[in-house]
Amino acid sequence: MKPVEIKKGIYWVGAIDWNLRFCGSYNTPRGTTYNAYLIVDEKIAIVDTVKAGFENEMLARIEEIVDPAKIDYCICQHSELDHSGSMPCLMKAAMKAKVIATQPGKESLLAHFGTNWGADVVKTGETISLGGKTLMFIEANMLHWPDNMFTYIKEDGVLFTNDAFGGHIATAKRYEDEVGTEAIQEATKYFAVIVSVYSSMVARKIKEIEEMRLGIGMIAPSHGVIWRQPKHIIDAYKRWSSGEAGRKVTVVFDTMWHSTEKMAQEIARGITYEGIEVRVFNLRTSDWSEIIKEIIESRLILVGSPTLNMGMYPSVGGFLTFLKGIRPPNKKAVAFGSYGWNKGAVKAINDELEKMNFKVLDSIEVKYIPTKEQLSSCFEFGRNLTKEL
Ligand code: FEO
Repeated sequence: MKPVEIKKGIYWVGAIDWNLRFCGSYNTPRGTTYNAYLIVDEKIAIVDTVKAGFENEMLARIEEIVDPAKIDYCICQHSELDHSGSMPCLMKAAMKAKVIATQPGKESLLAHFGTNWGADVVKTGETISLGGKTLMFIEANMLHWPDNMFTYIKEDGVLFTNDAFGGHIATAKRYEDEVGTEAIQEATKYFAVIVSVYSSMVARKIKEIEEMRLGIGMIAPSHGVIWRQPKHIIDAYKRWSSGEAGRKVTVVFDTMWHSTEKMAQEIARGITYEGIEVRVFNLRTSDWSEIIKEIIESRLILVGSPTLNMGMYPSVGGFLTFLKGIRPPNKKAVAFGSYGWNKGAVKAINDELEKMNFKVLDSIEVKYIPTKEQLSSCFEFGRNLTKEL
């Protein structure tokens, strides 16, 4: 695949990782891309590189445009290895290139590679002229590492954002409008699992950038597709970071002898009876990152478990540990479950939900196997929950 000119003199020279199935903390069934961008002007810059192992793919694309030895600047927006892993290789080919990073980026490069190539540090608002094009840098601390930054080319209205606004999707197409709904689905999941924990910082950063009145015509992240209608993804980030969601419910559970499963099904049936969208996941057989994506888009979360040794099931505890790290804002939550001779699971779940600052609503519990009347109660419980939406 050739390099792709996304604006005059700006080329995608990244790599496509079709077979990545796990990245950092979540499953990536659609693979990913590592997007690097070459900017050719009187001077030449590259924004980000690619994961180690894909360096030849990137270099081959660069060589179709220019000799890598002519690169003047290597902009390291983020030192995590999926973007910086090819820097040692690139810097051998681009001998005169000056590395540009934030101060935490400079420190992180040293920690990762034993060198930072004498990187120059930039701060928000500082610029580098390439001739006809001007690079302006915007620190994006904790989106999602301390070192992250964005790069803006004011003459073209292009904002490079590294991980922010990205998504794990391998595709030969470069733009969101060519890919369809898979792109926003993967961007949602990416936000949910990687960015959501920093929601308040996301909201502040978007406000800061809007106050700069930059005139952004294109958002080019370092994973997945490029947004030619940036409002689409910016509005989505505003919505997700505020906790705003549609009238939707996500139910997650594990089950021992199907009692908790029966409860989940009846509660969900009550919710759908009232015309509310619901998604139901058995934690043992579902992709947890897919569940987190659904939770981001839900106002209410139900967590169900049988009682095991006076506590919750280990799978439920594991999932709540995952969710606690993400802490999606402004959600309501409910615990439910079954028990034998001792209770414990529902209280343990409620304790965890409260630690996540969810608004915790009343619970429902059943001893041993739910009777027909108790299943009816679960159905009514589901119906009543919709009043909370
Ligand atoms: Fe934080 Fe795509 O690396």
